[in-house]
Amino acid sequence: MTREQIVQALVTVLAYMLMCGTIAWRYRQRQREAQRRVDALLPATPGAPAWWVAYASQTGQAEQLALQTAQALHTAGVPVRLAPLSQIRMADLQHADRLLCIASTYGEGDPPDSAVPFARQVMASAAVNLSHLHVGLLALGDQTYANYCGFGRALDHWLMANGAQPLFERIDVDKSDPNALQRWRQHLAHLAGTNDLPDWEAPSLQPWRLQAREHLNPGSAGEAVWHLVLVPDALQPLPDWQAGDLVQIEVPTAPGEPRDYSIASVPQDGALHLLVRQSRRTDGSLGVASGWLTKQADLGASVMLRVREHSGFRMGDNAHRPLILIGNGTGLAGLRGHMRGRLAAAGMLGSGAERPESVAPMWLLFGERNAHCDAHHRDEIDTWVRQGWLRADWVFSRDQEERRYVQHALAESAGEVREWVEQGAAIYVCGSLEGMAGEVNDALQRILGEEALQQLAADGRYRRDVY
Ligand SMILES: Cc1cc2nc3c(=O)[nH]c(=O)nc-3n(C[C@H](O)[C@H](O)[C@H](O)COP(=O)(O)OP(=O)(O)OC[C@H]3O[C@@H](n4cnc5c(N)ncnc54)[C@H](O)[C@@H]3O)c2cc1C
Ligand SMILES: Cc1cc2nc3c(=O)[nH]c(=O)nc-3n(C[C@H](O)[C@H](O)[C@H](O)COP(=O)(O)O)c2cc1C
Repeated sequence: MTREQIVQALVTVLAYMLMCGTIAWRYRQRQREAQRRVDALLPATPGAPAWWVAYASQTGQAEQLALQTAQALHTAGVPVRLAPLSQIRMADLQHADRLLCIASTYGEGDPPDSAVPFARQVMASAAVNLSHLHVGLLALGDQTYANYCGFGRALDHWLMANGAQPLFERIDVDKSDPNALQRWRQHLAHLAGTNDLPDWEAPSLQPWRLQAREHLNPGSAGEAVWHLVLVPDALQPLPDWQAGDLVQIEVPTAPGEPRDYSIASVPQDGALHLLVRQSRRTDGSLGVASGWLTKQADLGASVMLRVREHSGFRMGDNAHRPLILIGNGTGLAGLRGHMRGRLAAAGMLGSGAERPESVAPMWLLFGERNAHCDAHHRDEIDTWVRQGWLRADWVFSRDQEERRYVQHALAESAGEVREWVEQGAAIYVCGSLEGMAGEVNDALQRILGEEALQQLAADGRYRRDVY
């Protein structure tokens, strides 16, 4: 090695250490900030009866509204305790006086993932006397689904059937309807005995620019999938998101009706990457948002978007665990975010370096239709496989006679799935709710056992971004 090479190697190592240090510092800052937000809400006098503000949330809207509710009450001098519904036990309800609950609905009228144990255990237990409990309920949903606000209603019925007293009639919120949210705020102000609750504004949409767009699957039997690259408009800083987060995009053809997309990149990429599939109606016309983003908008077009924290699909405490990443179609977006996130956290994104022993490995199980055109980002994934970061199992449903999906690959590797989980792996699932996520859930239940899977979910080691 020449002197120059040694100096260069030292500089690289130092730069790497600095980057790791900065990432760890930023992570700790964020953790502290999140803890500060919750600590700030604890009752001023220990032991003073607090109002519970509980939430059941899949993609974070109910969680955000619960935080705003708790902060508003706290500002008005009311002691509050903020918690996900999953942390609330029957004993808490039996000792509480007031419960404000914000609950969304998923699947076909189901509770969000994190609230499944509450629904199965607490709500399924024998009748209890909750006549001392005063309840306000905000149910989030979307009228286009058959079982509108299904879980919020079920929760309401269960509470009332056990004698709980409504503070006011349940408020159902259709797609974040501002009028319904305003009614909730008015009730809060009334309950807290104040006129001036601070305004709640959804984080505003910011102008971004569509920098690049690539059609990933020409010739596919399925609808077109596009890789989009977006950068903040001139003079706007790049926001600080985490792998697992979402964006909400409002296209000019559907004002006031934003669509969610999983982020496929990390801030170290300097841009937001998305994978968008063109959705198509029966008459052949393209979906409003996917059509605009992939076809109508010109390169360089302004795109209004906000980044949304998706705490249920972030890395959380899993940063040092092996990862089993399972998905299909555009679900690769959320999984790619995590793969790039792991390399970035090691300071090795784009470095070409092999995985060091100290970094836990990843295992991708990804399903699409045909290998010759639907293996999105194959070069990048193959490179990570060669460098030892990743094991990749591609599952193509239509390359052989019988249909084959990720759940089949999981079942065939059952022993290894168990080994990975025994070694501490966390499981992330991203993509279709219909077809994929349910089947994968069933396969995991068969491999690991229903209780063990529930425990993984409760421990934050089984996380889903499915739609
Ligand atoms: C958490 C989350 C993450 C997501 N991540 C991604 C992602 O990473 N990539 C991705 O591609 N998508 C993702 N989606 C889906 C995305 O948000 C949009 O739903 C999707 O792009 C379709 O929106 P659209 O405006 O193009 O279609 P829309 O115009 O809303 O139409 C959607 C579908 O509804 C039906 N439909 C609507 N209107 C009519 C009508 N008038 N007549 C008949 N049928 C109709 C059709 O079946 C149509 O295909 C995600 C969704 C969620 C909730
Ligand atoms: C895949 C999926 C399934 C959904 N299913 C329902 C449903 O069955 N009934 C309903 O009222 N809303 C349904 N919704 C709408 C959500 O409840 C609504 O968007 C809510 O605001 C999400 O809040 P959260 O971010 O706290 O999870 C569904 C949304 C998605 C993405």
